[in-house]
Amino acid sequence: MQAKITALGTYVPERIIDNHYFENIVETNDEWIVSRTGIRTRHFAAEYEYTSHLCLGAAKNLVEENNVMLDDVDFVIVATVTPDQTMPSVSTQVQDKLGLRHAGAIDISAACAGFSYGLILAQGLIAAGTHRKVLVFGAETLTKFTNYEDRSSCILFGDGAGAMLIEAAPKGNILGAITGSSGDGGKELYMSNMRKQINGQDIITDNKIHQNGRAVFKWAVNTITAQMPILAERSGLSLADFDWFIPHSANLRIIEALCTQTGFPLEKTLESISIYGNTSSASIPLALHRGIREGKVKKGDKIMLIGFGGGLVYAGIGLEWAV
Ligand code: COA
Repeated sequence: MQAKITALGTYVPERIIDNHYFENIVETNDEWIVSRTGIRTRHFAAEYEYTSHLCLGAAKNLVEENNVMLDDVDFVIVATVTPDQTMPSVSTQVQDKLGLRHAGAIDISAACAGFSYGLILAQGLIAAGTHRKVLVFGAETLTKFTNYEDRSSCILFGDGAGAMLIEAAPKGNILGAITGSSGDGGKELYMSNMRKQINGQDIITDNKIHQNGRAVFKWAVNTITAQMPILAERSGLSLADFDWFIPHSANLRIIEALCTQTGFPLEKTLESISIYGNTSSASIPLALHRGIREGKVKKGDKIMLIGFGGGLVYAGIGLEWAV
């Protein structure tokens, strides 16, 4: 059996925060944020709202929009770096609240590449023949871990969740995959309350997000431009055959740079950064869902999605949209 994506759902918290909000917190302004990042708004989770709640919102939306049943889901994967707590996992909380009595459940940690990794793992479980229906989430409450004293990062993050259903089918729609990591760049983007050093470098242990924006920006552009043709080839296609490219929405300028350097048309990219900010593992499903709602993505379209982020780590898949 092969893995087929059969449904997508998303959720964002109600509260919308515009750029002016940050003008009272740090020295910044709307013009800088829009021109340097492309972000206009983001959503903040309420105090009582955690990552598991966002997952449940995305699952509810998936069920409502796709007319599917989740009862026989046999595995739940939640990609997140902002779990409600370390233990129990978010996936077990979601399994319980959704009443998925026969489902295995794990959380995975691959930052902004987490959703892509989740899809690749789901594909593997189905191809191995051990599972038939896997629910993959990319969900984050980053704003609970944001350092509001750092103007270069606090303006970036937003909260949200995406959910995808992957089922066993005679003919799948995942065409190819790439994965990779550069652990030596771990110190460039981290969140920690435990270790005093990463790769011999002192780190701050306040459990807030710390980022060397320029270093991550350069790594992302260099790495992902090199990986795009490789993923196309593994998908049995050329880059020009893809109808849509969905890179992780970290910064609009990264997406523009990826297109400039590879010649891929910018108008064929989908993004969630402008209205949701950087939502880490949720950014790709949010961008895809936005593209579908806006009538851009059609059944049969070839889509390349690539996540990249803290680790440093990346992963991507090529797929044919079949919903
Ligand atoms: N408002 C106004 N000025 C700001 C600012 C803000 N919010 N944040 C930073 N600045 C200033 C800096 O202090 C610096 O001033 P200086 O030149 O006087 O020292 C100047 O703007 C440029 O700073 P820099 O850090 O070089 O900005 P940048 O153009 O690289 O943008 C990021 C910063 C974080 C937006 C950008 O580097 C980025 O998006 N990086 C990648 C993030 C990413 O991919 N993460 C991985 C996935 S999660």
